[in-house]
Amino acid sequence: LRVTWDAVTAEKGGYDHFMLKEIHEQPKAIQDTLVGRVKDGVVDLSQELSLTEEEIKGIDKIHFVACGTAYHAGLIGKSVVEKLVRIPVEVDVASEYRYRDPIITPSTLVVVVSQSGETADTLAALRAAKQAGAKVVGITNVVGSSVAREADEVLMTWAGPEIAVASTKAYTSQLIAIDLFALHLARVRGTLDEQTLKAHTTALLNLPQQAEAILEQAGSIQPLAAAIAKHDNLFFIGRGLDYAVVMEGSLKLKEISYIHSEAYPAGELKHGTLALIEEGIPVIALATQKEIFEKMVSNIIEVKARGAHVIGLGIEGDTELGKSVDETLFIPATLPLLNPVLAVIPLQLLSYYTSVARGLNVDKPRNLAKSVTVE
Ligand code: AGP
Repeated sequence: LRVTWDAVTAEKGGYDHFMLKEIHEQPKAIQDTLVGRVKDGVVDLSQELSLTEEEIKGIDKIHFVACGTAYHAGLIGKSVVEKLVRIPVEVDVASEYRYRDPIITPSTLVVVVSQSGETADTLAALRAAKQAGAKVVGITNVVGSSVAREADEVLMTWAGPEIAVASTKAYTSQLIAIDLFALHLARVRGTLDEQTLKAHTTALLNLPQQAEAILEQAGSIQPLAAAIAKHDNLFFIGRGLDYAVVMEGSLKLKEISYIHSEAYPAGELKHGTLALIEEGIPVIALATQKEIFEKMVSNIIEVKARGAHVIGLGIEGDTELGKSVDETLFIPATLPLLNPVLAVIPLQLLSYYTSVARGLNVDKPRNLAKSVTVE
C-alpha cells in the first residue's frame, strides 16, 4: 500500500492534491504559453495562425463561446479584445449560443475556448458557427482534441495535463492565449502604437514571476479559508474586470467546497441583493481596477454597514483598501488588463483550502466530470 501511496503522491509532485499541484504549476504554464510567441519585443502569432492580414483587418465582430471556467476566460477576453483591438465582442455560454440563432457573417470570428477540446456544447457551437460561415479559432489545451482538429485555426495553451476537475492552470493559460491573440490582432490592425504593444508584451513576460510571488504567500490564505469553511453562503463582488474574475472565483468555491456563493457586480447590490447581506456573511471583494477603486470601496462600505465580513483583494502598495475591510490580500501590480491572471490565484487557493478544511474530495468533487462530453 505504501508503494502505491508513494506512487500516487509522486504523481502529484509531492502535493496533497492535483489541484494544488496545478495551482502551483501556473508560473510554468504561463511561461510555456508565452514561449515562442514574442519576437523583437512584440507578440507575433503568424507562425501558427494562417489568418492573413487581410482576413484580420476584415474581422468586424468576435464571438467568444465556451463553458464554465473557459466561459469566464471569454468574459475577460471581451474586455481585452475590445480595449486593445476595438472590435465589438460577444461572449456566450456554448449551450446557449447554439440555440440563440446568433448573427454570424463571413467577417465574424468565433473563438471557442476549451481546456479538454471535447466539451459537447462547445463542439456543437463550433460546428454551428462553421456551418453559418464564420471562421473559427480554437483555444485548447489538448493537442489532437476535437476542437483542435475541427477549428480553422488553433491557438494552444501549454498548461500541461490538468487532472483536477476544477480548472486552474488551464484558465490562466487561456487568459494568456487570449492576451496574445488580442495583441497579435492589435499589431496587424494597427490599433496600438509600438510603445504600447511593447509595454503590454513586457508586462505579459513578467507574469510568471509575479504569479510565483503570490504562490509563495499561499500559506496566509489557509486561515481565511478555515473561517469561510464554516459558512454555507457567501458573496464575491467586483466591478469591471474584477467582476469577471469573481465569477471564476465563485465557480471554484462552489464546485469544490459545495458552499453556495454568488458573484455579483458590486454596483448592482443596492438593486436587491443587498437584502441578503446579514451579520457575519463573508464577502470577498476585488478592488484591483484603479479607475473604479473609489466606487468599489463605497460598495464595500455598503456591505460592511450591514454586517458583512469582508476579505478585500487589492494591488500591493494600496494603503486605502485595508481601512475598509476585515482582511486584505494583495497581488503585484501589472497592467489593469492583465490583473485577472494574478487576481484569480488567491481565489483558487481560497477555494482549495476551504474544500480541504471541509474534508472534501478536492480533485473529484461530487456530481462533476473533468470533461463534459455529453449535452
Ligand atoms: C471548471 O473548473 C469546471 N470543471 C468546468 O466548468 C469546465 O471549465 C467546463 O466544463 C469547460 O471545460 P473545457 O474547458 O474542457 O471545455
